[in-house]
Amino acid sequence: MRIAMIGTGYVGLVSGVCFSDFGHDVICVDKAEAKIQMLQDGKVPIYEPGLEVLMAKNVAAGRLSFTTDLANAVKGADAVFIAVGTPTRRGDGHADLTYVMAAAEEIAYAMDGYTVVVTKSTVPVGTNRKVQEVVAAANPEAEFDVASNPEFLREGAAIDDFMRPDRVVVGVENDRAAEVMAEIYRPLYLRDFPILTTDLESAEMIKYAANAFLATKITFINEIAGLCERVGGDVKEVARGIGLDGRIGNKFLHAGPGYGGSCFPKDTAALARIGQEHAFPMQITETVMRVNDEVKKRMIEKIREACDDSFNGKTVAVLGVTFKPNTDDMRDAPSLTIVPALIGGGAKVRVVDPQGRSEGEALLPGVEWVEDPYAAAKDADAMVLLTEWNEFRALNLTQMAAEMKSPRMVDLRNIYSRDKVKKSGFETYVGVGR
Ligand SMILES: NC(=O)c1ccc[n+]([C@@H]2O[C@H](COP(=O)([O-])OP(=O)(O)OC[C@H]3O[C@@H](n4cnc5c(N)ncnc54)[C@H](O)[C@@H]3O)[C@@H](O)[C@H]2O)c1
Repeated sequence: MRIAMIGTGYVGLVSGVCFSDFGHDVICVDKAEAKIQMLQDGKVPIYEPGLEVLMAKNVAAGRLSFTTDLANAVKGADAVFIAVGTPTRRGDGHADLTYVMAAAEEIAYAMDGYTVVVTKSTVPVGTNRKVQEVVAAANPEAEFDVASNPEFLREGAAIDDFMRPDRVVVGVENDRAAEVMAEIYRPLYLRDFPILTTDLESAEMIKYAANAFLATKITFINEIAGLCERVGGDVKEVARGIGLDGRIGNKFLHAGPGYGGSCFPKDTAALARIGQEHAFPMQITETVMRVNDEVKKRMIEKIREACDDSFNGKTVAVLGVTFKPNTDDMRDAPSLTIVPALIGGGAKVRVVDPQGRSEGEALLPGVEWVEDPYAAAKDADAMVLLTEWNEFRALNLTQMAAEMKSPRMVDLRNIYSRDKVKKSGFETYVGVGR
């Protein structure tokens, strides 16, 4: 199969690289010239474990290339994937479809021969039909079908998720498009990974429903954590106790500083908006969004309390600022709410993150970036563990406590046990829901 991937970001790049590893010929397209130049030079513009090696292998095999020339990439392609961003539209929470529709129109002008136009971006129900209209209007001669193929990969484990998915969802309207999609995903089909073929609308809804459900699960345990703090109980034990129930499952039950990242905040907002527009409010999702905002605020109060009720004049070491470990993605990370509150309250903030600095520097003005957690903690009044990078899981706590001005730990990921922290010389340990 010849594939053109439009949009070479976190999803487009990983998908393009993995499709080429399946044996397809893939051209990845992006408007950002600097990004394409880097990729042509063999460098990966994002941090994603394993991506660079897999990319180099497939470039060397002649199956994978990068360009800014959309028209040339689309010519002769069996399938063109749209993997551009669908950020929250300013003001109303709706998914901004400008990039998707612009890409669809450009694809339409460039297509020759039968092509399947596949939307991989996360888009509201009805978008694939709009893509169909846009393509047909721009190029009435075009011979094409549309397909919806939402992506479920997780940043930080993206290659494994793509190569060994829980399921692949394909929304199509006829056999011809279904056959092209089946051929593209053949290597997964042969290995018995579930491939679910649905209509266009169901495929689009599956993606929003999945993300809203996961956001709900996290938010639920975060709320239980808040109650544990009032009435007693350790949310880690509670999560284990409920997670062993097969109907509930143990994933996404880690209490923490609230969900963030490039998907959950914007996708819950978009789903809520769709509900409002159709006079069917998504009450659970709307509540989840509100509770999640409150969780982040509660974290700020937790840190303030640990700092004797004032940030003014305090030095705070923040360990981890990306929205989760193993990514450099800072979009909607809890750190973007928490760190400015510390600085706004008069604290001096030192930040350490294994991959977050290049994205984070512009987003967190006024912080001091340091290279290792011990340097961050030196003479500090408090240490806040915000992202659970492996590097922060086995700290020498005795050394850290000895170097701090007042050894206090706010562990927003519940990595450490209170006993261990206290025995290491910390005077205060504050976790979440325990
Ligand atoms: N990031 C994730 O973990 C994830 C997971 C599942 C689904 N998604 C969805 O996938 C989509 C893409 O997300 P992302 O995180 O990869 O976004 P991203 O912002 O990292 O990448 C989008 C890329 O598209 C490029 N682009 C925009 N318009 C273009 C055009 N007309 N032609 C060529 N390139 C164009 C941009 O320059 C950018 O590089 C979104 O809808 C998102 O919701 C993301």
